[in-house]
Amino acid sequence: MKPSRRGVLHGSAATAAVLVLVRPGSVSAQAASTVAPRRTRLAFDWRFALGHAQDPARDFDFGIDQRTYAKAGTRVATAAAADFDDDGWQAVQLPHDWAIDLPFVDNPNPPPMGEDDPKAAHGFKPLGREFPETSVGWYRRSLDLPADLAGKRLSLEFDGAFRDVVVLLNGFIVHEHEGGYSPFRVDITDVATPGEANILTVRVDASLGEGWFYEGAGLYRHVWLVVTEPVHVPQWGVTVRPEPVGSGAKAFVSVELSNEGETDATCEVAMRVIDPDGVEVAKGGVATTLAGWSEGTVDTTLAWDRVMLWSTTTPRLYRLVTEVRVAGHLVDHYEQPFGVRTAVFDAARGFFLNGQHLKFLGACCHQDHAGVGAAIPDRLQVWRLEQLKAMGCNAYRASHNPPTPELMDACDQLGILVITETRRMASDDAAMAELESLVRRDRNRPSVIAWSIGNEEQAIQGTERGARIATTMVRRINQLDPTRPTTAALDQNFGEGVSSVVDILGFNYRTQLMEGYHARVPDQPILGSETGSTVQTRGEYIRDDARHIVPAYDTEHPWWASTAEDWWTLAAERPYIAGGFIWTGFDYRGEPTPFNRWPSVASYFGAMDSCGFPKDNYFYYRAWWRPEPMVHLFPHWNWEGREGEAIPVWVHANVDRVELFLNGRSLGSKDVLPNRHLEWLVPYAPGVIEARGFKAGRALPPVRRETSGPSARIALTSDRTRLRADGEDVAMLKVEILDRQGRPVPRASEQITFEVTGPGRVIGVGNGNPVSHEADRASTRLTFNGLCQAILQTEQRAGEIALTARAPGLRPAMLRLQAS
Ligand code: GAL
Repeated sequence: MKPSRRGVLHGSAATAAVLVLVRPGSVSAQAASTVAPRRTRLAFDWRFALGHAQDPARDFDFGIDQRTYAKAGTRVATAAAADFDDDGWQAVQLPHDWAIDLPFVDNPNPPPMGEDDPKAAHGFKPLGREFPETSVGWYRRSLDLPADLAGKRLSLEFDGAFRDVVVLLNGFIVHEHEGGYSPFRVDITDVATPGEANILTVRVDASLGEGWFYEGAGLYRHVWLVVTEPVHVPQWGVTVRPEPVGSGAKAFVSVELSNEGETDATCEVAMRVIDPDGVEVAKGGVATTLAGWSEGTVDTTLAWDRVMLWSTTTPRLYRLVTEVRVAGHLVDHYEQPFGVRTAVFDAARGFFLNGQHLKFLGACCHQDHAGVGAAIPDRLQVWRLEQLKAMGCNAYRASHNPPTPELMDACDQLGILVITETRRMASDDAAMAELESLVRRDRNRPSVIAWSIGNEEQAIQGTERGARIATTMVRRINQLDPTRPTTAALDQNFGEGVSSVVDILGFNYRTQLMEGYHARVPDQPILGSETGSTVQTRGEYIRDDARHIVPAYDTEHPWWASTAEDWWTLAAERPYIAGGFIWTGFDYRGEPTPFNRWPSVASYFGAMDSCGFPKDNYFYYRAWWRPEPMVHLFPHWNWEGREGEAIPVWVHANVDRVELFLNGRSLGSKDVLPNRHLEWLVPYAPGVIEARGFKAGRALPPVRRETSGPSARIALTSDRTRLRADGEDVAMLKVEILDRQGRPVPRASEQITFEVTGPGRVIGVGNGNPVSHEADRASTRLTFNGLCQAILQTEQRAGEIALTARAPGLRPAMLRLQAS
């Protein structure tokens, strides 16, 4: 690996800067001037084609005749040439995951029945070294660089790609990056020619995986063009370390500067703190001189009265606005959001946010969604977090990799605490670079409460070697961020190896071992880094191994895990357990436990399915993780042919007492015990089953399940009706099948077709069925147990979008949305 310039900065030059205080008045007087936007998202105008991982002739001659690095800028790949005709390539928009469009492929040599199929882990998509013809993708677009950018510094920032990337500009290799989750930056100044056509070509090779779950393929995160003056704040160059002081706050601020010009520059650096209401509350300034082609850092401390704290209920964000001037001219304007809060782990009493006790009501999540795979639009990131919040979550574990920055932004904005995690527990150069970029990128975020150095590394977590690796990782984290603790998620070896290197110990499952560990190691805070893990199919209540169906009662879990009720009753009552993160918030592609073989292609662990439709366990957490009184009754009441048979009827409710009725006749009432469900066995008779909850003597509105008739019509709803006409915003559309009387038809399987007129299009569909092999990028989908989802994306023009959902023999539904 090349030594990074950042390494140099932290090694020495940082301390060389001369610090001079600028009079505050002179700073604000100049604050009104502006510079051009420094970052532009390159979302549109891309073209895509599959290459080939083995055959250069089918990979645009990449690697042919071993000439890749022979001569700079020539003949690296035909696709990188300016006159290459990409008309036949597919027009795509970022984020983009080409694995979504690949078919599901069964393993021709499956292991014997009863054994897990290794091809199940990534969800039976044809990616990997065995699939050279579908594991390499090429992206191409022209970069619009106006002539007046001559003299500026130009770079590209990739938020992440899966997985190994070669970036070519005008035929030159400008960067290579390995790793599917780490961001990287590419300086293109030397090779770009402002005023002329510049051709950007990116080869992405998804042959090598990093996880045991679906990981997608391609440019599945954003790519940015960054334009700066020679003197500028480099990527992630501003660090703000705030803390409350009395009723006010102070913040240590550190600004890195880069002079990528020939001449010395005397820089005036003005910093302003803008509060959540947009009011400037503190300012300061520092001056320094940077020699040509050097880097430096300026530090200061800013203080202000009356702080507005960031919390999970009031996620108030401040901004640090940094402006850099050289000879009186504004050369850079850099905005860094931050929040002021305290976060304290106490080994005996758990976690405290701003001095208030807070138990982690968390969810682990992977980074894919129905319809779009790993290429999640920003608004969908927010929507997914909103669903978790609605369930009662206050915390998120980014398992098992650094997430996209837009997800982290959303956690800051919505008030969700985050344990973020690097992908590999390793101290080789590449793993350390990934860890470093994670901490540098996210260390200003109020949401981040701990850095996780890894997950279930069975070969090393309990060994001396593992402890050495962990020590190296923790040392680096502490250098980059002395304010947050480290953690690791273990599934065994509690008390050995890595476990004593990290500040906080994460237990994956094994909640019952926590008591003994806490008694042995009373000074180390502990939490459930993965907890629960009931497997369930949404809307199903009878196990059917032949059809790969698991019931949605809170009953079935892998041997290493537990039900929701088992772990939470234990954790809720023990203050030293700081909380837990359920495995998982949503179903995800790959790892289709408990079957782990064809035809299931997605996991069954989610409290919600892969579309975000709640399963019944969602309501267990909703009942005990949120204060609002509620009653949830299940299963559905369509048990044709089972008249007189006993059906287990469950209630998740956080009220005092629930009375159950069948067709108006009371089946008795039961008291609700904290964190427990209620259960009746009810001989089936068609009609209405009803639960009436009582809280503090008052009745809640009754909750009913009614035996429905056959499918008759479609209900179509959208999470929002007004969208941004920016070509990126999305609406989440839900189809539900109803009978003639408007009652949900719980088993309905109807082929829905979506039609759109106006400036929008359906970019993906899903139904939450882990066994479905239907296409994601389609305008049609079967409903699964009465529901399906479409993701509608706007175009870059305003107007009314009319959406119709039809199915043979059913009354269609129509919806109008406004894009402006
Ligand atoms: C854990 C692992 C997760 C997932 C889960 C399935 O051991 O950390 O990534 O594989 O098991 O139960």
